[in-house]
Amino acid sequence: MSPTFTASAPAKVNLLLRCGQPDEKGYHQLFTVFHSLNLRETVSLTPREDGKITVTNQPADLSQSAITCPPELDELPAEKHLAVRAVKLIQDTYGIKTGADLVVTKAVPVAGGMAGGSADAAAALWAAKHAFGLSVPKVELLPLARQLGADVPACLLGEILLGTGYGDHLKLLGPVPQRYWVMATNQTGLSTPLVFQQADRHPEQLAAELPTEISEAELKLLQGTDSSDTWTDFLELLENDLTLPALELRPDLAAPLAGVNALKDVDQQPLTRAILSGSGPTLAAPALDLPSAQKIAQTFQTYPGIERCYILQGPVPGAQLH
Ligand code: C5P
Repeated sequence: MSPTFTASAPAKVNLLLRCGQPDEKGYHQLFTVFHSLNLRETVSLTPREDGKITVTNQPADLSQSAITCPPELDELPAEKHLAVRAVKLIQDTYGIKTGADLVVTKAVPVAGGMAGGSADAAAALWAAKHAFGLSVPKVELLPLARQLGADVPACLLGEILLGTGYGDHLKLLGPVPQRYWVMATNQTGLSTPLVFQQADRHPEQLAAELPTEISEAELKLLQGTDSSDTWTDFLELLENDLTLPALELRPDLAAPLAGVNALKDVDQQPLTRAILSGSGPTLAAPALDLPSAQKIAQTFQTYPGIERCYILQGPVPGAQLH
């Protein structure tokens, strides 16, 4: 029997997302900071001789409650599944004749702005590299990751990254301290292309030109140790240009954002800043410590439509073999 190779890749939150004008393909230039989180998608790959690629999805057994795989995922034709496309791309690029049976264990909410599908692709690339005995470093897989989706390179590399271009040209920004992030998922998904199309209805609100480098002051705030003195300045770093278009499509997200943004610490300073995660509808808020994270999660959960809150930490490593 062939041995099974298992790899995982992390979810992410965009701590900062500035969006530029669309190009002729409708894609947008971005200036974004990806922050990886300790919620991981896992792909197990068992080689098969006939060259075919199959996929089965299963929910992760999270300690609090098992997430369910949405029926759409099982209805998705195998050739459209990002994990399958990743293995096919490896076969085509390196002339591999071996096939694969894939088992994708889903922990990251689907269509939520946390790059769950992209993490499947990144984990599948990494599992395939090992299963097929390819001695290529991670950086050599980045062009393949880009072809699979704008967030796939960030899931492959993990950690904390500045993303420019379509968000797929990356530079490591670490080391940064571990931070808590509360991620509040929603009962109803939101389509990424629709959010970008809505943003295009207000071109005046999209940056004409984006920076290519993060400023020294921003980097210092990201890399510095958090304390109650620096926390408010750190919170001011957080922004997401997709918030307005997402709120136009989903006005129900305004109340949980405002409710969490009104939380104050003992000194009456803001406890956090809630932002849209990527293109939403998941909302994200960092926390200085675990009690603050719990308070933020409890507040999110008082709003209708919020499905569940994850208290996560990061940054974490990118794709890894288990
Ligand atoms: O690359 P990916 O397939 O993940 O992108 C999903 C959608 O997000 C694209 O179809 C496009 O509408 C939008 N997008 C964009 N500009 C980017 C990245 C994604 O407009 N830089």
